[in-house]
Amino acid sequence: PPDIPLANVKAHLAQLQSIANANGGNRAHGRPGYLASANYVRGLLDAAGFTTTLQSFTYNGATGYNVIADWPGGNPDDVLMVGAHLDGVTAGPGINDNGSGSAAILETALEVSRQSLQPTKHLRFAWWGAEELGLRGSQFYVNNLPAAERARIKGYLNFDMVGSPNAGYFVYDGDNSDGVGAGPGPAGSAALEQTIIGYFTSIGVQTRGTDFDGRSDYGPFIAVGIPAGGTFTGAEGIKSAAQATLWGGTAGQAFDVCYHRACDTTANINDTALDRNADAIAHAVWTIGTAVPPV
Ligand code: PHE
Ligand code: ZN
Ligand code: ZN
Ligand code: ZN
Ligand code: CA
Repeated sequence: PPDIPLANVKAHLAQLQSIANANGGNRAHGRPGYLASANYVRGLLDAAGFTTTLQSFTYNGATGYNVIADWPGGNPDDVLMVGAHLDGVTAGPGINDNGSGSAAILETALEVSRQSLQPTKHLRFAWWGAEELGLRGSQFYVNNLPAAERARIKGYLNFDMVGSPNAGYFVYDGDNSDGVGAGPGPAGSAALEQTIIGYFTSIGVQTRGTDFDGRSDYGPFIAVGIPAGGTFTGAEGIKSAAQATLWGGTAGQAFDVCYHRACDTTANINDTALDRNADAIAHAVWTIGTAVPPV
């Protein structure tokens, strides 16, 4: 699997920040900064050879958009999806939440193109609208999948907040192996979890499980039985002393003090966390997407 260039991921974050700056300071559903964000992502994917769709939906009297990008090839009956929400709250530019996940999966998709990857699975990337208003874009997508199309999707990987300034290294606990909180999820979620944990283990970073409770866009997928996984570096939760020992950073402080605030700017990013998570995404896409025989 490739090493995703951190500089490229950060360049996307700078672009999303500029889009917010030019559009009233945010990239929220129904605001011009959202559509500009969607057009930015879509333009790069089109130029890289993806087949893209701008799927529109209505929520709260405003039009929302999902950007869906298919990489030509792979087994159409064995689809791996990778997604992140592209919208933010109205309070700020939404760079960690969720420019980070959006930029990390974007650069992974662009790496697929640069390498002319020929995966065994069919790869589909998604940037969701209106997550912040209740997972509206991803729910719309799943609700409108014909049954046959839904059955082709064998896994979904979600990335929401992967550059938190006081980062933790959380992996969705798809099998609820820690016995805490929600889960287990659909069979197959545990394998996705283990693939992601395997990457962090290989770079010497310990992970912890985080509740598989549907608090991001994987929720609508697991609700219909599609296995899912993903990573998270923390939001409003407070880093414990044990977690600070494990990962560094500041105990007694939120993983992201700027969560849903105006200060969620390009300054609100931990480069090491963003770099490791982008590489974890690529590891998962390459490992799962190119497996022979397919897994
Ligand atoms: N979905 C939350 C948000 O966008 C963030 C979050 C992601 C919380 C994953 C918990 C787990 O605000
Ligand atoms: Zn949020
Ligand atoms: Zn989010
Ligand atoms: Zn687990
Ligand atoms: Ca658990």
